[in-house]
Amino acid sequence: MKHIFLILFFFLLKCIGILSQAPAPAPGPPPPLNVTKILEKAGQCSTFIRLLQNTQQLNEITSQLNNSNNGITMFVPTDNAFLNMKAGTLNSFNDQQKAELIQFHILPTYYSLTQFQTASNPLRTQAGGTTDREFPINITTTGSSVNITTGIVNASISNTIYTDNQLAIYQVDNVLLPLQFFVPPAPAPAPTPITRKRKAGSSDSSSKQDASSATSLLQEMYNGMIFIFLFSTAFFSSL
Ligand SMILES: *[C@@H]1O[C@H](CO)[C@@H](O)[C@H](O)[C@H]1NC(C)=O
Ligand SMILES: *[C@@H]1O[C@H](CO)[C@@H](O)[C@H](O)[C@H]1NC(C)=O
Ligand SMILES: *[C@@H]1O[C@H](CO)[C@@H](O)[C@H](O)[C@H]1NC(C)=O
Ligand SMILES: *[C@@H]1O[C@H](CO)[C@@H](O)[C@H](O)[C@H]1NC(C)=O
Ligand SMILES: *[C@@H]1O[C@H](CO)[C@@H](O)[C@H](O)[C@H]1NC(C)=O
Repeated sequence: MKHIFLILFFFLLKCIGILSQAPAPAPGPPPPLNVTKILEKAGQCSTFIRLLQNTQQLNEITSQLNNSNNGITMFVPTDNAFLNMKAGTLNSFNDQQKAELIQFHILPTYYSLTQFQTASNPLRTQAGGTTDREFPINITTTGSSVNITTGIVNASISNTIYTDNQLAIYQVDNVLLPLQFFVPPAPAPAPTPITRKRKAGSSDSSSKQDASSATSLLQEMYNGMIFIFLFSTAFFSSL
């Protein structure tokens, strides 16, 4: 009997011990990702980080990751890629274009490297639209290598900086410049044949001019020879 009480007593103590232990933290939502921190850790991204912040796109990404289930894919050019651009390119863009440039490097969908193999071109970027006049990119893959083309710039993914099932950050070796920034709207088609006709006419008259000046040169040479002939005839006959 005594033994049973003792056993119960220890059992009770054990239960109290378990209860008094701090409960395991409930698996709540993970803290929001700090994209800046991820990029800083990767290194070679300081120009892109600065542009992300200055164009307010960092806030955009953070809230999109929190509010949408499609995820995000980012193409981050290295600092060297920015340095390799034609001098003054970045400064030639106004604030809106700078924001569009950054949005052009972001897809509003998560893509793993293998998902690029089945992605269908053109891909919509955060800058919007899939027609030539808007901001699409095309992706081609061979094995595990992934190339991106904008129509004026080709780039390759050189490194995976970060990936989970919501956010993918890839390093790329060139700044993705939107075709739309450099190719002006299609010109009106009419004037071309007229200018060509005019050009043809003017070149005709100039060649006529050339011909006539050549004739006058011959004429002068001819006159000169006659003069010399008459002069020498006169000279010899006077002897
Ligand atoms: C993210 O990280 C950067 C640098 O590591 C830090 O300056 C910034 O305060 C962080 N942002 C948030 C929201 O924690
Ligand atoms: C994330 O979204 C929830 C609602 O969907 C909102 O309550 C919360 O404030 C958001 N957090 C951030 C960091 O934006
Ligand atoms: C990707 O680009 C590299 C050169 O940057 C080229 O050698 C390779 O063939 C390209 N691959 C595809 C699938 O276009
Ligand atoms: C992208 O792919 C689409 C569909 O294949 C094609 O029509 C378009 O010309 C391509 N654009 C570029 C810039 O390669
Ligand atoms: C991009 O690559 C394509 C073939 O993959 C090539 O035709 C084109 O000239 C390249 N463009 C540039 C700007 O290098």
